[in-house]
Amino acid sequence: MSDSNTRNIQWQSGLVERSERAALNGHPGMTLWLTGLSGSGKSTLARLLERRLHQHKIRTFVLDGDNVRHGLNSDLGFTAEDRRENIRRVGEVARLMTEAGQVCIAAFISPYRADRDRVRNIHPAGLFHEIHVSCPLEHCEERDPKGLYAKARRGEIRNFTGIGAPYEPPESPELVLRTEQDSPEACITKILDYLGGHGVRVQTR
Ligand code: ADX
Repeated sequence: MSDSNTRNIQWQSGLVERSERAALNGHPGMTLWLTGLSGSGKSTLARLLERRLHQHKIRTFVLDGDNVRHGLNSDLGFTAEDRRENIRRVGEVARLMTEAGQVCIAAFISPYRADRDRVRNIHPAGLFHEIHVSCPLEHCEERDPKGLYAKARRGEIRNFTGIGAPYEPPESPELVLRTEQDSPEACITKILDYLGGHGVRVQTR
């Protein structure tokens, strides 16, 4: 955003502190950012995780690429610039949810490191957790749950991540999940174990 747009606007602080929201909810707000190739399992894990956390009275909300692109970001496509804007907007939404005390589970390919780092940098320290949903391209292509890889190979989709556009894996994510070797349930257990060390306690065994 250009400076001129924000020059005459002052940030208004609320009268409720982040720590007070955390005390009310019994857990801090945060963003769990799932990044990975299309078909790697991000949406599946996001939905399972939300179900599991909700059962344990954790306040959650899922932001998912396929859904957000129907509404908030329906004006955006898949060029590098549009993806940057997609991630910028949903990153801002995730930050607001974090401030509101939610555990925001964001599932976006978010292929560019710089775009993800920008989202990390707008979050309060320690409240952005990057989770790499890692799965070899060949495996995602074999699964091809939406038939999109086949379309991309036929030249019917341009800029498809992994085929006509790059994916830059995280260099130091908080967590890596390997969905070609671990079951969804095993991945969820790993996330819950990780969250246990970050103020979100759910019994896993
Ligand atoms: S991102 O790159 O901007 O983070 P996002 O996660 O919102 O992508 O959306 C990805 C979803 O859009 C994919 O799961 C797939 O269903 C669909 N899609 C359509 N075209 C493309 C494309 N060119 N590259 C990747 N995904 C695409």
